Amino acid sequence: MIRFPDNFLWGAAASAPQTEGHSLLNGKSETTWDKWFEMNPEKFNENQGPKDTSNTYEMYQEDVKNMQKIGMNSYRTSISWARLLPDGKTLNPEAVTFYRAYFQDMLDHQIEPIINLFHFDMPWWLMEKGGWEARESVDDFAFYAQTAFEQFGDLIHNWTTFNEPMVHVECGYLYGFHYPAIVDMKKAVQVGYHTLMAHVMAVQAFKKSQVDGKIGIILNVLPAYSRSDSPEDLLAKKDSDLLNTQSFLDPAVLGEIPVDLINLLKQNDLLPTVEKDDKQLIRDNTVDFVGINYYQPRRVQAPKNPHTPAVMPEDLYEPYDWPDKKINPYRGWEIYPQALYDIAMMMKNQYRNIPWYVSENGMGVAEESRFKDENGMIDDQYRIDFIKEHLEQLHKGIEAGSNCFGYHMWTFIDCWSWLNGYRNRYGFYSVDLDNGFKRTVKKSGLWFKDLATNNGF
Ligand code: BG6
Repeated sequence: MIRFPDNFLWGAAASAPQTEGHSLLNGKSETTWDKWFEMNPEKFNENQGPKDTSNTYEMYQEDVKNMQKIGMNSYRTSISWARLLPDGKTLNPEAVTFYRAYFQDMLDHQIEPIINLFHFDMPWWLMEKGGWEARESVDDFAFYAQTAFEQFGDLIHNWTTFNEPMVHVECGYLYGFHYPAIVDMKKAVQVGYHTLMAHVMAVQAFKKSQVDGKIGIILNVLPAYSRSDSPEDLLAKKDSDLLNTQSFLDPAVLGEIPVDLINLLKQNDLLPTVEKDDKQLIRDNTVDFVGINYYQPRRVQAPKNPHTPAVMPEDLYEPYDWPDKKINPYRGWEIYPQALYDIAMMMKNQYRNIPWYVSENGMGVAEESRFKDENGMIDDQYRIDFIKEHLEQLHKGIEAGSNCFGYHMWTFIDCWSWLNGYRNRYGFYSVDLDNGFKRTVKKSGLWFKDLATNNGF
């Protein structure tokens, strides 16, 4: 039997825009997702937009009970910026009432909430000013963070600033999956830098707020593995880790942007515009903990015909198709549990063994209803196997001294996922879109209850 440390967090993660629904109701203003869907619904899987996502706004009490039923002792979701401050300045009282009731309900059911401030949902009023391209976004975000700490700081003791900041950078400014869907690496770097400063200013606001609690950031880590040990392939690995992982992890935890990253950006004419006090602000506002979302590794090799200076990340590292890979065919992502051990060791050895947790791990599967058993329950044994394999590696890392305090799955109930709509399902509970968003537990949910109750398996 594998046992985890006492008080280990067992739970799941989600986000406001993917679960709340009521996207254009109760005083919430539009986000880039609402607007993009209005402009280009054909981009979204089966025209499924952000308007009616799983309806937690009305069903949160049932959801919280369902969390408890499967043994969850913690849950991470986010606040919607556009709901709390519809114009960026004015507090929406309906939002305060909703979030306070939701958070209190979690506490009443012994579910520790971890509350995140930004999960890809840029308010439209800010996008019109340039979104994260504009420096004023940093102050706007700090004001929002401060407001959230004031309104909910008595209930929430674990806060995070951003979920996967690299994703809105690369999806919005390089690969076309998020609005504004442009391709401009220089802008991508500036957007990333302003996001970093917004994070830093939110941490500063938290420290000034004297909320009794801790603050962290949630980062997606795809550890890079190089095709070979040739100097060229190893350089590709190094550049990938610098751009994708160290760009946020180093400043957030160690208080410094790596010199090698600055040099890499300089060589490629990609340095962002900065302000003179930024360096000190970064140094003074490091996090208390880190959440790491892990789904897949990144296999890289030296680029064959790179453009110099780089205009795309692929000019620095190219994807390498590892012949031995195991793939989740629905999502097209490699399944490589060993990376979780490598991440645990990285946190121990390179990041001062800071407390961290697996804030997302999961397996999206299409058309899951075909796996229903005779009682109508989805028999997702593949998801149980997936979790076990990952937990074995995580446990090995903890035994080797890594300071990991929890494991959260993506996700609790099937949810809407950006351009993919409801195509791939990840939940412990299925959600029936044709039947009032009815939630039904899957086999993995029942298995998770045993896991959490036994603190291991
Ligand atoms: C994470 C995000 O990267 O992966 C979630 O934090 C997302 O918002 C999840 O839904 C699963 O990815 P996808 O694209 O299959 O929904």
